Amino acid sequence: MEDLALLRQAREAMAQSYSPYSGFPVGAALLCEDGSVYRGCNIEGASYGNAICAERTALVKAVSEGRRRFSKLAVMANTEDYCTPCGICRQMLYEFAPDLAVICGRADGDYAVYSLRELLPKAFSAADL
Ligand code: THU
Repeated sequence: MEDLALLRQAREAMAQSYSPYSGFPVGAALLCEDGSVYRGCNIEGASYGNAICAERTALVKAVSEGRRRFSKLAVMANTEDYCTPCGICRQMLYEFAPDLAVICGRADGDYAVYSLRELLPKAFSAADL
């Protein structure tokens, strides 16, 4: 799937965001190696620490449905600069897809593509245990 098509799915997922506390909706779309796509949005709660990011929502949906091999992730938010995944999401994505391509969108529709290895250099992994 083309980067722009996956980014469009992330933008659509953003519409489902439940983010009344931050007012910062985020959407994500995770492309599996078998071609299926899992979408996610950020979901917050009155106990602020229980928020989950859009990227991890998409990841846990996919893994819980039996997917473990991923090729691309798109992330979208209404930001001036490209919206990149937070540290916790980077680490959790690395668990399953160290070679993931991460497509980061911004409000004006432009996007940048990073490798997860570039976003999380010297990552901790099972090999370190
Ligand atoms: N958030 C995401 O969903 N993904 C990111 O990449 C950055 C942050 C969410 C978490 C929280 O609901 C809100 O954005 C503000 O941090």
